[in-house]
Amino acid sequence: MQKKIEIQDISIGIVGLGLMGSSIVASLLALGYPVKAIAPIHGEKEVGYRRIKEHLSLCGKFGILQAGIEEYLSLLTVSAEYADLQGCSLVVECIVENLSVKDTVFKKIAEATDKSTILASNTSAIPISILQQAVPHPERFIGIHWAEPAYATRFLEIICGNDTDQHTTDRVYAMALRWGKEPTVIRKDIRGFITNRLMYAVYREIMHLVQKGDTSFEDADKSFRYDAGSWMTLMGVFRRMDHIGLKDFYVACNNIFPSLSNTEGISPQMQRIVDAHSRGVQNGKGFYNYTKREADAWIEAFSEFNKDIYQLAALYPEHVEGSANQ
Ligand SMILES: NC(=O)c1ccc[n+]([C@@H]2O[C@H](COP(=O)([O-])OP(=O)(O)OC[C@H]3O[C@@H](n4cnc5c(N)ncnc54)[C@H](O)[C@@H]3O)[C@@H](O)[C@H]2O)c1
Repeated sequence: MQKKIEIQDISIGIVGLGLMGSSIVASLLALGYPVKAIAPIHGEKEVGYRRIKEHLSLCGKFGILQAGIEEYLSLLTVSAEYADLQGCSLVVECIVENLSVKDTVFKKIAEATDKSTILASNTSAIPISILQQAVPHPERFIGIHWAEPAYATRFLEIICGNDTDQHTTDRVYAMALRWGKEPTVIRKDIRGFITNRLMYAVYREIMHLVQKGDTSFEDADKSFRYDAGSWMTLMGVFRRMDHIGLKDFYVACNNIFPSLSNTEGISPQMQRIVDAHSRGVQNGKGFYNYTKREADAWIEAFSEFNKDIYQLAALYPEHVEGSANQ
């Protein structure tokens, strides 16, 4: 009889301990996985460890830990050496969104692991088909796109590159279910995958309207919060159209589509804000201004809100709804 593989037997490697990397490490520790966290940049080991601890204490606040933080930290190794990835079943890269830096890092990851290790990138928009060319055996390479905070969101996109094989996809899909996610699979790695493409269509349109002076940042945010915010988590977009009534929706599409922005450039307003070195909540200057306290309060509220949405979504499971008509 084959031995059942338990979570504590599956080591997972995470490379890069910035915002996403440290949050993903915490979410895997909270599930009971031994994690090897690699922070090759000088000085980042200590910062990364601190970030992971902070995320774990948020996991505690959210009620997803069954023991004290120290017990979860005992499953963690933080190192600057790629060699410590040896023995990992899966390694996820979470470093800066830069193709040549990611290529170099993947070569080091591939050298440190053997060909049965699944290699994954958390890239938001670099095509997996390009990234997987950096490693031998590209069939075990895949995109795993988390959302922040990784321990309190159900979203997870699995992106296949041209060379990714079905076995790799199936293994990652099965793991994602164990992680408590609602995974989606993108069989062809279109630019921006699914959610980013959808959201960038929204960002372009709203920047266009504000630039023209048709509305303000505040009113744009308010309408998005209280309209989309009241249905998105429940029904997504196609069920929303069904719900509105397709006849009316069809007429509205015909009327509105021709007036939507299809500009390829950045709005001059956004260009000005970015040229002024505004980085949003990171430095308190963005579309809005923030004191340090306000920025921290937004970050904390976002984590808290995600936990509430995570629990709310569980009250409306998908299986009670009808099947797709394709
Ligand atoms: N921030 C998000 O909400 C989010 C969501 C989904 C996906 N992503 C993707 O996740 C990845 C990481 O994003 P982030 O927000 O955590 O960025 P971040 O800037 O917080 O962290 C990037 C990390 O990369 C490390 N790094 C930089 N150069 C390196 C090198 N040469 N070798 C090894 N490590 C290096 C940095 O030290 C840092 O820890 C990106 O590809 C991003 O597109 C981000």
